[in-house]
Formats: sequence, structure tokens, C-alpha cells
Amino acid sequence: MCGIVGYVGPKEAGPLLLEGIKRLEYRGYDSAGLAVLVADGELAIEKRPGKIAELERALAGNMPRGSCGIAHTRWATHGAPNRVNAHPHSDCRGDIALVHNGIIENAWVLRQKLEALGHRFESETDTEVLVHLIEEAYADCLEDAVAAALQQVEGTYGIAVISSRDPAKIVAARRGSPLLLGIVDGEYFVASDVAAMLAHTRDVVYLDDGEYAVLSRSGYQIYNLSAGAVTKEIERVSWDLAAIQKGGFAHFMLKEIFEQPETLRNAIRGRLLEEEGTARLGGINMTDEELAAIERVVITGCGTSWHAGLIGEYMLEEFARIPAEVEYASEFRYRNPVLNDRTLVIAISQSGETADTLAALQEAKRAGARTLGIVNVVGSSIARTADGGIYIHAGPEIGVASTKAFTSQIVALTLFTLYFGRRRDTLSIATGRGIVRALADLPEKVEHVLETSAAVKELAEEYHGCRNFLYLGRGNNFPVALEGALKLKEVSYVHAEGYPAAEMKHGPIALIDENMPAVVVAPTDSVYSKIVSNIEEVKARGGRVVAVVSEGNHALNGRADHLIRIPQTIECLTPVLATVPLQLLAYHMAVLRGCDVDQPRNLAKSVTVE
Ligand code: G6P
Repeated sequence: MCGIVGYVGPKEAGPLLLEGIKRLEYRGYDSAGLAVLVADGELAIEKRPGKIAELERALAGNMPRGSCGIAHTRWATHGAPNRVNAHPHSDCRGDIALVHNGIIENAWVLRQKLEALGHRFESETDTEVLVHLIEEAYADCLEDAVAAALQQVEGTYGIAVISSRDPAKIVAARRGSPLLLGIVDGEYFVASDVAAMLAHTRDVVYLDDGEYAVLSRSGYQIYNLSAGAVTKEIERVSWDLAAIQKGGFAHFMLKEIFEQPETLRNAIRGRLLEEEGTARLGGINMTDEELAAIERVVITGCGTSWHAGLIGEYMLEEFARIPAEVEYASEFRYRNPVLNDRTLVIAISQSGETADTLAALQEAKRAGARTLGIVNVVGSSIARTADGGIYIHAGPEIGVASTKAFTSQIVALTLFTLYFGRRRDTLSIATGRGIVRALADLPEKVEHVLETSAAVKELAEEYHGCRNFLYLGRGNNFPVALEGALKLKEVSYVHAEGYPAAEMKHGPIALIDENMPAVVVAPTDSVYSKIVSNIEEVKARGGRVVAVVSEGNHALNGRADHLIRIPQTIECLTPVLATVPLQLLAYHMAVLRGCDVDQPRNLAKSVTVE
């Protein structure tokens, strides 16, 4: 949510900044801008509403020349996405430029104070108060002014600031919004996401909350707002440039759907212990005594990650025999949940930066609960806040609608169920071995499901005119119905409701007619016969049915209007296989409807505001 890039070094900053924010465009794309300290010591700022392409057009042949600058791609929180509200923002004298990700909660109070002191505001944003605060605090050193200004601020921020009064220097600070430095010899980047700098370096330093950094061509220094200079390790990220490019696919979403055999292999690599019927997980950080003491598991997350949590709940209860529940992070953090050191709270997040999930995790820690993160982005805030965790190793997910992360999250939850169940002796070796074998076979089966893409496209051609869809599933596949419906809404702007199939009778059945198709997830499992009845209920009311069924099931031929077949696997892993055709359906529908698949309207990949 909002992307920040800064560069200082020997090269022209403008093209590097533009390239950097383009790589971050999935974080927000309603307006963009950059500021460069130009040769004569002036500050040049250019910004535009709309996607980065608009800014690029405005800068063509006109790029400000200088080797120190900052840039931003925005997802609006305060103020409409127009030119004035776009970042960078500047002070009254036009000496300072600032980009910001996050929300300043006391912006209104600060603005009134600053206006009383004579500051003139141009935008409706909360961000602009920061730059005027810095102007107010400026004596002769930019970092001192930034540090003084930040003492007055409530809320969250990742910021980068430059000033013509302190040229060739970037000051960056973080509280609650991710920020990292990229280190090259004699040149330095700052960004909210490693993707922005991956073409130039994989050596990074993660800033922690309460820290700020000063970058210049001669080096960088990190300080803690309350404790002075700090020394931090340089870490090497494993992702490479190819991972953040489309690789011949029309869209990132399609590429990421097709990457799933590989991402699932990465999720299980080195982790399956068939003989022992369990998983090897190095980052749980809990002793057997601590594991044994856990009485309850609470899983939390947002969006697609929350759906994965629902699947985890079913698995943990069935195989590890531990009470488990799933909470929306945004609700959980504002309740007064009963938590103690016998509760394990698992936060699931692809980005590791979702503000509500991070806050729920912090709340759980404060209440004394044990915590785990199931995260994709290495070094992200949630990964670093949790007591232990499981990385899903899905590689960068750029498409705003989450796909490959979801299936890997399910696998990570399965691995944890094995680990937890075996360690606590609530899962037999025989059952554990069966799950391990099924996990090992899963990537190949997903390859097989991907072969349905052309057939799913034909379905999309038939149905892409429909304005409403119902997605139904039962048991382990009820969350798949939710996820299938979410994918369709996100990328094709078609209204879709996910429902537990039997609940349909209590409301949604009233909506069924030939214009509202039902997508029914009906693999051959313990609730299969029940869901067949639900299919009949839809058909009896003139509805059309697309059913996802197991290979070898011919009983529904002629009863459902269309069948998508998936290979057999154990019941708890069917969600992985059943989800893939629903991802493809959403994708093909969106393309046929002319939607912007990778950057759907109003959404952002990483929601770092509440
Ligand atoms: C946003 C994204 C969703 C994602 C959700 C949670 O809404 O658009 O695709 O599922 O955030 O993100 P997280 O990174 O915490 O998994």
C-alpha cells in the first residue's frame, strides 16, 4: 500500500526512481510522483494522478537531472487521488520533499497548529503535516529536523525526505510501514519493498520501527529515535530479478497461477519426513513442553490469508485434536479476546505487512500468547514480530489477487498440523505418513489441474456476461468457495458470494435462476453425497451449475451443466487442487471482461493501513 523509493549515488536518479516505483506499482496505483535534487541545488518535483505510465509520459524528455531523489506510487487514504494530493509533498518554501506510506492519526491537530504558525497547506493529505513539521524544526540539519518532527507524530509511517538545504542526502524513517535500505558500493536505495531495488542489489538492511536512516554517497547510518546510533546487519535476499518479471505470461496473475507446482515444491522442500510421518520445521521456536502446554489455537489474517486460516482450522482440529478458531485480524485486534500463554496465535500473511494482521499479532504478544507467523516475504514485519514461523517460500507475488501464496499457505498449515500433531502425539504415524505422501504428490497433481486452463477459458466465455455468481462448498472446501468468490470479485468485478452449500437453503437459494450460475466444489469426499443434493436443489430452480469434481466421477455427467475434473488426493488437501480452476476462472473472466487483472480498481496488494 503505497510504494516508496529513494536513490542517492553517482547515477542519474530519475530513471532509477521511475523503474523502482514501477516495480512497486502493485502496492498502489492511483497517482505517482518523484522529486530530484537537481544540479543547481533546486528541488524538482513532478507528480501526476493515475498510473505511473502517466508520470512517465509527463517526464519523457523532461526528466529532472540529479543523483539524489525520492519517488512514490500512491493508494489514497486521505484525499482524492489527484495531482495535488499525490506525493512527494513539499514545505512552504519548496525546499523539502517527502514521500509517505501510512497514516498520521493526529494530522488534523498538527495541521491546525502549523496553520496557526503561518504554514500554508495545499493538499487534503495527512502526509503534508509531516513536511511542514520538518520545515518548522529545521535548523541546519535535515535528519535532526526529521527526528524532531517525528516525536510529535501519532500513527504509522514509512517516509523518505530530501532537502535542497542538505543536498545529496536522504533521510528515511519507519514506524509501522515497511522500509529497507539497498546497499551497493557508493550508492544506496531506500524502498518499501525489495522489488524496487532488486535489479541493482540483493544486499539489504531492514529498518525496524522507531529507526531512521541517513543515506549519502559516502555511506549510511541508522539511528533509533530514542537510543542513538545503531548497527545493523546486511542481509542477502534470495529473490532474483526474473522472479519479479512476467516471464512471457500476459499477466502476473496467470504467471503466478502457473507457478504453483513449483511454489508448492518449494514449500515442502526438505520439510517432509515420511518415515516419522511428520514435518521438519526449523523456525517454530517452541520446546516440546511449550507445545504440550498449548490448549487452543487462534488463527488470524485478512482476505485470502484468512481463507487459508479456515482450512487450517479444520486440519488442526481433525488431525492435531486441538481447539482452533479463525479470526479476522481487523476484528480480533479491537475485541478483548481471551488469550494467555496456553494460546497459540498464528498470523497468516503473504506480505507480512498487513497492518491489521500485524496489530493482531502484537496484541496477542502483549496478552502473553505464543505466536507464529506463516509468511511469504522474508524479513517482513510479521515474520520478525512473531516468536517463530514458517516461511512459505512462494517467491514474490505481484498480482494483486493472491493465488500462489494461498495454496502454499495451505501446505504450510498442513506441515504445521503434522508437526504439532506428532509432537503432541495426537496424530498417529500412519496418518502422518499418509499426509506426507499426499503432500509430496501434490505439485504434480497441480500440474495436471493446470491442463484444464483451456477448458476453463471456454467456461469463462460462456459465463462472462453474468453479473452474479454463487460459490458453494462444504467441509474443507467451504473456504475454497469463499476464495473462488473473492477471486472473481477482485479481478473481474462480478458479484460473487461464497457460501457453505447447505446454508444456501437459508437465503441465497432465493437468488437462483438461469442468470446466476452456481460454482460447486464437489470432490469425492466424506460430504460428497450431501453436496450432490445441493446441486440438485440448484438445478430444480432452473440454476446452472459448474461443478469441480474428482477424476473418475461420472455420476454428475448430465446433472451439472459443466464439470471440471481434479485429481484425487486426501480430503484435507483437496482445497489446493480445487482452488486452481477457480483462480483460472476468475482470471479468464476478468480478461474477457477487459479488466485490469494485475491491478484491479481500488485494491492494493499490501494493505499497510487499518
Ligand atoms: C489485500 C490483498 C489480498 C490479500 C490481503 C491480505 O487485500 O489484495 O490479496 O489476501 O490483502 O494480505 P496478506 O499480505 O496479509 O496476505
